[in-house]
Amino acid sequence: MNKFNLKDQTAVISGAARGLGLAFAEVLASAGCNIAVLDVVHEPSLALYGLRSQHNIKVKYYIVDITVRDQVMNTVSEIAQDFGRIDININAAGVVIDEPFLTTSDEILQRIFAVNVNGSFFVAQACANAMVERYKSQHGDAPAKDATTGSIIFIASIATYIASTAQQISCYTASKAAIKGLVKPVAMELSPYGIRVNSLSPGYTMTEMMKTLQSKQPDLVKQFEKETLFGRIGLPEEMKGGMLWLCSSEASGWYTGQDLLLDGGATSWKHPAVLT
Ligand SMILES: NC(=O)c1ccc[n+]([C@@H]2O[C@H](COP(=O)([O-])OP(=O)(O)OC[C@H]3O[C@@H](n4cnc5c(N)ncnc54)[C@H](O)[C@@H]3O)[C@@H](O)[C@H]2O)c1
Repeated sequence: MNKFNLKDQTAVISGAARGLGLAFAEVLASAGCNIAVLDVVHEPSLALYGLRSQHNIKVKYYIVDITVRDQVMNTVSEIAQDFGRIDININAAGVVIDEPFLTTSDEILQRIFAVNVNGSFFVAQACANAMVERYKSQHGDAPAKDATTGSIIFIASIATYIASTAQQISCYTASKAAIKGLVKPVAMELSPYGIRVNSLSPGYTMTEMMKTLQSKQPDLVKQFEKETLFGRIGLPEEMKGGMLWLCSSEASGWYTGQDLLLDGGATSWKHPAVLT
């Protein structure tokens, strides 16, 4: 039996126009999962549409600003209609701004929390309601004894484990800690419906987000390279296995209310960069 088969399931993924969200869409598609994407970008990577013919699955792209509750609620009900069901929700849309704590403005504070916290909250809430509705239509009020209804995954960050001298991202870090703060109580509240809730914390990973930071701070990646145990930063590809495992109830059905840190060992040692 293939524990990682997601055939005929549907995943709602925010932020999958590119970067980590796209990598998650790719690995779920390879397991037969249909993909619905929420993103603000008007033209997502062509690789997203290529998944249709590559894996014989359904892929639909919805242009949505996840900070706007009504847009999110309407789009998620449209997805439930278009796909017939929602089984998985990954909340990968996120923004980062490098700004010292002492000068962080209201505008930065509100922008980062609006996307990373409120946006992820809205999407997860809408998807959870669709999952609960499906559970109740099949099982009534009987509490679930296993977690086969669905899996919700928030994206937190290595930043919530360790501060790097290479960045000043207190506001971003607080937003990611807020997301991690949702995991345990929501896992508890949704368990009667057979839904698991976890977060995945990527370490430093080469995506558009990292490239944008690097364009303003050319030595950033060099510094991060010194901080992992393998002398390099991670690739989106390297987050795929962990995400597939989190999504499959056959594979990770007993794992809920937790954070999975994938950081190439960066939080496991005293960095030589700091010692010298
Ligand atoms: N790259 C890293 O090193 C790293 C490390 C730790 C955590 N993360 C987190 O992983 C997630 C993905 O990051 P990434 O590196 O792929 O970033 P990215 O910038 O490459 O991709 C983020 C995606 O989110 C979308 N998005 C932003 N605001 C949105 C909004 N309001 N509504 C809808 N979509 C919106 C963007 O259009 C983009 O497609 C983020 O939550 C990020 O904080 C990244």
